[in-house]
Amino acid sequence: MLNKNVTIKELETWLRETDKQKLEQLWLAADAVRKEYVGDTVHLRGLIEISNYCVRQCTYCGLAADNKKTTRYRMNADEIFACAEEAARYGYGTVVMQAGEDYGIKTDWLADIVKRIKTELPLAVTLSMGERPFEDLQRWRDAGADRYLLRFETSDTELYKMIHPPLPKQAIDRFEILRQLKLLGYETGSGVMIGIPGQTYATLAKDIDFFRQFDMDMVGVGPYIANPLTPLGRGEIKPDISPEKQVPNTELMTYKVVALTRLVCPQANIPSTTALATMNKESGRELGLARGANVVMPNVTPVQYRTLYEIYPGKACLNETAKQCQECLAARIASIGRTIGTGYGSRNHGPRANLD
Ligand code: 5AD
Ligand code: FES
Repeated sequence: MLNKNVTIKELETWLRETDKQKLEQLWLAADAVRKEYVGDTVHLRGLIEISNYCVRQCTYCGLAADNKKTTRYRMNADEIFACAEEAARYGYGTVVMQAGEDYGIKTDWLADIVKRIKTELPLAVTLSMGERPFEDLQRWRDAGADRYLLRFETSDTELYKMIHPPLPKQAIDRFEILRQLKLLGYETGSGVMIGIPGQTYATLAKDIDFFRQFDMDMVGVGPYIANPLTPLGRGEIKPDISPEKQVPNTELMTYKVVALTRLVCPQANIPSTTALATMNKESGRELGLARGANVVMPNVTPVQYRTLYEIYPGKACLNETAKQCQECLAARIASIGRTIGTGYGSRNHGPRANLD
């Protein structure tokens, strides 16, 4: 079944599909649902990577606390505001402030920045600050933050523990935080990496089903990219899994997940991610947009910082300026006959509104 009611078993079958013609049907179905529910506009979100400090030890991520090779930075409030102004100048309707889980980002300090952006600029504000306590999430929401992103990475609890060691005395469940975010009135986004060592087709199908059950407002997915500065990337952690169950971390698998996510979450904002563009610099962004995605997150972080925000190696746009990305994306979006959105580009809750 190629609609919202696709079963978990069918999701798994699609993830294993190799037949080109069948996959063509999947792309067409996802693209049609995308067009019907969220229209032809592509919303641009200016990404500001405000700090690369992190207290966590995620075994896949280059920002993990143990990685002494990364030079750490935290942008100051004026630098962040200047990036937001630049995003607004380019006509982006949203800024996404992202960081490692950095408690040097004080609750009130960030609340003041959110307030300033919301007061002075015509922007929606999205935060992606990791597993912060409820009080922080509440404070930032009160300050005017509109959205929060927290990928759950995988719904397999054993695999999750392996790639994401908990902090001492702090067993936090990301699903619980996602529920809190929803209660606080945030538009709530999540997502997973595709092809994590140890990730099975069955779990990935469950992950997609979870996006549906939770009625996610935003879903970001991208291929897992091995980072040699991490234990998982160096192959030091070896999951016990038979090869035929292992999801490959390929570009094709990513398109399948994007397309299936669009089917099960027709109204969601789904980005064509940087990790995808990293795998295929030529046309990854465009193919993501053609197979279910409707959002792109151009980086507006100053170049001297963005080169230090190296979650994985070879990240697309590492040395491009915000202006270059803006021009590049405008051309790419025009080349596939889509238009750039104006305004916040919030999640559309209407039944079948065509937003164009
Ligand atoms: N490969 C791909 N994606 C990664 N992320 C972190 N490390 C990697 C990696 N090695 C993703 C995670 C995180 C997001 C900010 O970046 O899904 O939530
Ligand atoms: Fe950054 Fe194309 S989006 S260079």
